Amino acid sequence: MRADSVLIVGAGLAGLFLALKLAPRPCVVLSQAPLGQASASAWAQGGLAAALAPGDDPALHAEDTVNAGAGLVDPAIAGLIASEGPARVMDLIALGVPFDRTPDGALAQSLEAAHSRPRVVRVSGDLAGKAIMDALILAARAAPHIEIVENVRARALLRDDTGAVRGVRTRHNGEDADFTGAETVLATGGIGGLYAVTTNPPAALGTGIGMAARAGALIADPEFVQFHPTAIDVGHDPAPLATEALRGEGAHLINAAGENFVSELAPRDVVARAIHIEREAGRGAFLDARSAVGNEFPAHFPTVFAACMSAGIDPRTQPIPVAPAAHYHMGGIVTDAWGRTTLTGLAAVGECASTSAHGANRLASNSLLEAVVFAHRIAERLRDSAAPPPTPAQPLDGPHDMPTESLTKWRAIMQAEACVVRTGAGLAKAITQIEAEEITTGETNESTLIRLILTAALARTESRGAHFRSDYPDASAPRRTFLTAAHSAASA
Ligand code: SIN
Repeated sequence: MRADSVLIVGAGLAGLFLALKLAPRPCVVLSQAPLGQASASAWAQGGLAAALAPGDDPALHAEDTVNAGAGLVDPAIAGLIASEGPARVMDLIALGVPFDRTPDGALAQSLEAAHSRPRVVRVSGDLAGKAIMDALILAARAAPHIEIVENVRARALLRDDTGAVRGVRTRHNGEDADFTGAETVLATGGIGGLYAVTTNPPAALGTGIGMAARAGALIADPEFVQFHPTAIDVGHDPAPLATEALRGEGAHLINAAGENFVSELAPRDVVARAIHIEREAGRGAFLDARSAVGNEFPAHFPTVFAACMSAGIDPRTQPIPVAPAAHYHMGGIVTDAWGRTTLTGLAAVGECASTSAHGANRLASNSLLEAVVFAHRIAERLRDSAAPPPTPAQPLDGPHDMPTESLTKWRAIMQAEACVVRTGAGLAKAITQIEAEEITTGETNESTLIRLILTAALARTESRGAHFRSDYPDASAPRRTFLTAAHSAASA
């Protein structure tokens, strides 16, 4: 690597958009799988929210973002993503993303929950993530300033004597290799794979957050995990998604008796809890798109249609069984408005970062928006920055690898105790179980993050946004959680 290269760990939307925007500064992108194969971005169905329609305004978008976040969104950051969003959509169009158009050629806008107006740009109905990633991968592979290294998994941050981050240690086929960079940017994605029921790819295990926490980075709001209300409940792992845009088109939520039990466009946490309650009560929950979409299903929602048909459900004529599933992590590595973390030399972007844009409950389709806005800002900051002098750097001891059987146990524990409805007793029990397992596995990036999530959820004795405690059903004064790995260190 050149001494002035930026090292980007992760090759989803945030990582690749940052790499492209850094031009002409050289950068190296590490991907744990062939490009596009392990990234949640490619699975995004809904699209990207931006105030582009006549009559819409970034201030209205920011207001909806703040309202959805249940008291914990920083209004300045909401304003920033809302105001910079339209320009980033134009960047994606310039990269060849074929967003859907109206018959008169304007960008088509769809409605999703808790948006006060239609403002989500999509591609072929539910294919936005795939189309965006296809365009970015093509551009990144052709860009002379980008070097892509596939099939390497980052395990630990390298730090020099001053504590500054200088790169990462990776593993491939049992061999460790170190990659250094003038600045290291984590774009490692989400955590859904830590739950037994998730819409995320299996590789989304929060490894980047665990690595950063183990190195001493400040972590914010790890207890806030968003559960998508309408994963398709056909026993698949990961669970296929039935995009919220279906409800935006008028699809209804009904129980087995055909009764509607919640307002379809209520905030995501409200809908997820309502579905959870119907299911727990044995009444079942279904998304009924028969009259709202009907025969248009294959053309308008091809991904959802294919997922339903492969499970033996024809959504043109049958309601779709749905269940909440871990979908998005609002918490993460604390960053400022330019993507800097609390560790010198380390930035974070995308789902692994906590920018204060999402609070306790992310507004639908704001995640792709946040990823591109902050990737652009980090590129602006780093494009011409000076490289630090080369210094020797080492990882912390470990971390240990996580045995597959431990992951299976941890996913079951998180699903049982840290899901849509939580209790203090359940969270305390989960912490004990994780600590007991760590006696045999040792500390892993994933177990570090799980302890952070559970510790913060136990300490938050209130209900707010996606964090609902049946033993503390009311909200108390708004406060954010800030903690380091030391706060959740195993007592065993
Ligand atoms: C969806 O299509 O429902 C998901 C969109 C999002 O998570 O923002």
